[in-house]
Amino acid sequence: MRIAILISGRGSNMAALLRAAAQPGYPATIALVLSNRADAAGLAVAEAAGVPTAVVESRAFKGDRAGFEVAMEAELARHGVQLVALAGFMRVLTEGFVDRWRDRLVNIHPSLLPLFKGLDTHARALAAGVKLHGCTVHLVRSGVDEGPILAQAAVPVLSDDDEASLAARVLEQEHRIYPAAIGWLAAGLVRIEGDVVTVAAPAASGALANPLPGPAPVPTNRSAS
Ligand code: GAR
Repeated sequence: MRIAILISGRGSNMAALLRAAAQPGYPATIALVLSNRADAAGLAVAEAAGVPTAVVESRAFKGDRAGFEVAMEAELARHGVQLVALAGFMRVLTEGFVDRWRDRLVNIHPSLLPLFKGLDTHARALAAGVKLHGCTVHLVRSGVDEGPILAQAAVPVLSDDDEASLAARVLEQEHRIYPAAIGWLAAGLVRIEGDVVTVAAPAASGALANPLPGPAPVPTNRSAS
């Protein structure tokens, strides 16, 4: 299956997908890396890996989102793209684009959706005091950060975490689950029924919990002893 990766910046998830696609037997080819910004650092990484790149500057369209998407889709068509993977692509797509690419448009988001949609997910997770945080790969629907969930990974939130340490722990998992989820889609292992996705792939490792459940501490009653 021919995949386009859409980026706006660093492109570490894109790099993880490129590494996976370079492995023998991976069921997808990265046909194009497209950025909406010419200064996206990820473009150089893709070029170094010999992957075709394109830039469609969103700024040049001055708010004409549909026009911007028509230009992007011309690039997608030119490269025979069958599936689009958003990887830190920081533009909201129109309902028209989302509908045209239904079930062929995937996103990675740095939270356990449906918690913390939108931006600044790590700061908001810390402020909310959650004990588990993580990342989600999902099919894109018209609501921002909404759509059937393909894969999630959870990480503990530690008491001395700051935004950077938590983001790094989550990003490591993003790099693991995004290539896996794209691989399942490309291999035809995914069934989508309404909001629920079933993957006919070997189960991932067991559930994560933090703090680890154990026996409840026994209260001591000193005066009775
Ligand atoms: C990633 O953490 C990704 O989950 C997030 O942006 C970062 C991009 O990093 N995406 C979003 O917040 C989309 N709502 P990368 O360019 O190194 O892959």
